[in-house]
Amino acid sequence: MTPVRIALVHDRLRPEEKMLRAALETAGAEVHPVYAPDWTWDSDDVAPEVDLALIRTLSHARTLALARALEAQGVRTVNAAHVVDVCGDKAATSAALAAAGVPQPRSGVAFSVDATLRLCEAFGWPVVLKPTIGSWGRMVARAHDAETVEALLEHKQVLGGPQHQTFYVQEHVDKPGRDLRVFVVGERAIAAIARESDDWRTNTARGAVARGVPVTPELEAIATAAARAVGGGLLAVDLLESARGPRVGEINHGLEFRNSIEPTGVDIPAEIADWLVREAERGRARRLDGATPEAAAAPDVATGASS
Ligand SMILES: Nc1ncnc2c1ncn2[C@@H]1O[C@H](COP(=O)(O)OP(=O)(O)O)[C@@H](O)[C@H]1O
Ligand SMILES: [Mg+2]
Repeated sequence: MTPVRIALVHDRLRPEEKMLRAALETAGAEVHPVYAPDWTWDSDDVAPEVDLALIRTLSHARTLALARALEAQGVRTVNAAHVVDVCGDKAATSAALAAAGVPQPRSGVAFSVDATLRLCEAFGWPVVLKPTIGSWGRMVARAHDAETVEALLEHKQVLGGPQHQTFYVQEHVDKPGRDLRVFVVGERAIAAIARESDDWRTNTARGAVARGVPVTPELEAIATAAARAVGGGLLAVDLLESARGPRVGEINHGLEFRNSIEPTGVDIPAEIADWLVREAERGRARRLDGATPEAAAAPDVATGASS
């Protein structure tokens, strides 16, 4: 059988992209790097000759646009556009988790100061306010009283763009100085870390230290249920340990794992690559099923690629 062809769509090449490329080649795939700033989508384009596109661009907006365009051409993307869409937006993630009955910190959305304050009173103090789209703990704020919430919301209303006018609030989970991150690859939870920090926001971008933790059946169950709730794929499910058990804090669609390989002892890029090759084989089978002579003669998605 000829090797599967996987487009690796990227902008800044982090260690993750380099490790994934090497692992994919080891797993027998033909990797076609695509440098996103050189890439174009034309609605008249015919389907590119790849079995799967792994999208590793940094920004949420760019990743979503790429996934939508490639899917329109019939390419299976990881992650799928709807997964990127849901995971990139915390309010959408909360809605998906609630619909699937997956435990999360009590979460809410409101559009005015008064309505937000009603949510805060119902959740109890302190509360956590977050931008619906964001990462690395930026603008994630803990408020102990109404005056602070009013001040935060005033800043959003005056200084924030349209995206900041949807107010997203969560009950504060009194977690034990850490949160947990479970790496989910397809249907499997392959590894987990605890991120420990003196800051209540346990982002590694804020100096949290990662330690490997075992993937217990409890962690596996909630992480895979959470991944399923948002459409599945290649996901990092963050869990906050509450007195009532683990709750899903957020689900990340752009996996960063360079600091988690050593502490977990799991070859995360190899696990991802093996799964991607299997998915690409399925993608190829589907594509060849529906192939037209035009599609078979289509140009390479890797035109303009960097390598
Ligand atoms: N409801 C909460 N209760 C307690 N801590 C929280 C809560 N929400 C977030 N945090 C802490 O803040 C960090 C950043 O929040 P998160 O929702 O993951 O946003 P980001 O996408 O910016 O990482 C989390 O890793 C966690 O440590
Ligand atoms: Mg986070």
